[in-house]
Amino acid sequence: MSFQIQPTPVARLNRCQLFGPGSRPQIFEKMANSTADVINLDLEDSVSPGDKEKARLNVIQAINDIDWKNKTVSVRINSLDTPYWYRDTIDLLENCSERLDNLTIPKVGCAADVYAVDSLVSAVEKAAARSKKVGFEIIIESAAGITNVNDIARSSSRIESMALGAADFAASMGMATTGIGGTQEGYYMYHGGQKYWSNPWHWAQASLVAACRTNGVLPVDGPYGDFSDRDGFFAEAKRAATLGMVGKWAIHPNQVELANEVFTPTPSAINEAKEILNAMNEAAENGDGATVYKGRMIDIASIKQAEILVKLANLIESN
Ligand code: COA
Ligand code: MG
Repeated sequence: MSFQIQPTPVARLNRCQLFGPGSRPQIFEKMANSTADVINLDLEDSVSPGDKEKARLNVIQAINDIDWKNKTVSVRINSLDTPYWYRDTIDLLENCSERLDNLTIPKVGCAADVYAVDSLVSAVEKAAARSKKVGFEIIIESAAGITNVNDIARSSSRIESMALGAADFAASMGMATTGIGGTQEGYYMYHGGQKYWSNPWHWAQASLVAACRTNGVLPVDGPYGDFSDRDGFFAEAKRAATLGMVGKWAIHPNQVELANEVFTPTPSAINEAKEILNAMNEAAENGDGATVYKGRMIDIASIKQAEILVKLANLIESN
């Protein structure tokens, strides 16, 4: 039990977060014209070491020149174990317009990792007289990251979202898979001569959601590598939504609409949420805390559940 009120995350849409390599400027306009809520221009693992500097310049130019409309624009910097991350941070903050919304910090393993980037960002922001404070998106993708996930979630007021990165996470955990997310052949229960596949990412996903929700951060599901497997992506996104995540990455344009579909409440779900709120209003007028809606019990907790949907619907409508 806690008397503290759970903090509310930033009010922004995050149904789909589309990634693209900073070394591939030909796709930047396509990213801007997509229906993804968040754009992530990558300087990290989709860019080869020889292209790091060019990619940085491409990304700065794209942030300043392209019309990103009402999207959240993030740049994924390199991780703290590389020689690139400090120059990424300084050059982006010194040269990007205020259209740069966030930095995405990969491979965060402990709260001090975020502190290090925050201190550099804070100094450059002051020196460059930037008026808009840059936010952080954190990627949890290691054994250390998931062990320290709650400390990380509360390590900086800049943090807006945290995502689970399946590939590096699997490698760090020593998981026997080379797949990026989704069903894993080896992870099954066996009963009555049948295999029943389970979700090996579940524990990490749920831990990340709990840390995010405790600290007012948006929980996001990371990549699904097999972009030709639409059903697999859809199922993983559905599971993430059911666990409390607000969106999922796309690493190919054909995943964007799928993510938007899963993380946008349907008109009938919104309608039902509004009916539940009305039914609870009527119950309150009669002095009741619980009532019956469509044959099932609803109570004051149902108001909180319904309000999440209605709030999201309003955010989408005002977008
Ligand atoms: N964003 C926007 N458009 C993209 C895109 C992306 N991430 N990836 C591909 N496209 C475009 C292509 O330019 C092509 O456009 P066209 O029809 O106008 O020619 C179209 O979508 C179809 O692309 P396709 O040929 O199927 O893919 P590809 O072989 O060009 O690229 C990947 C495949 C996986 C290499 C590419 O999608 C990619 O780099 N994804 C992001 C990787 C990344 O950022 N990883 C880091 C996070 S895990
Ligand atoms: Mg990674």
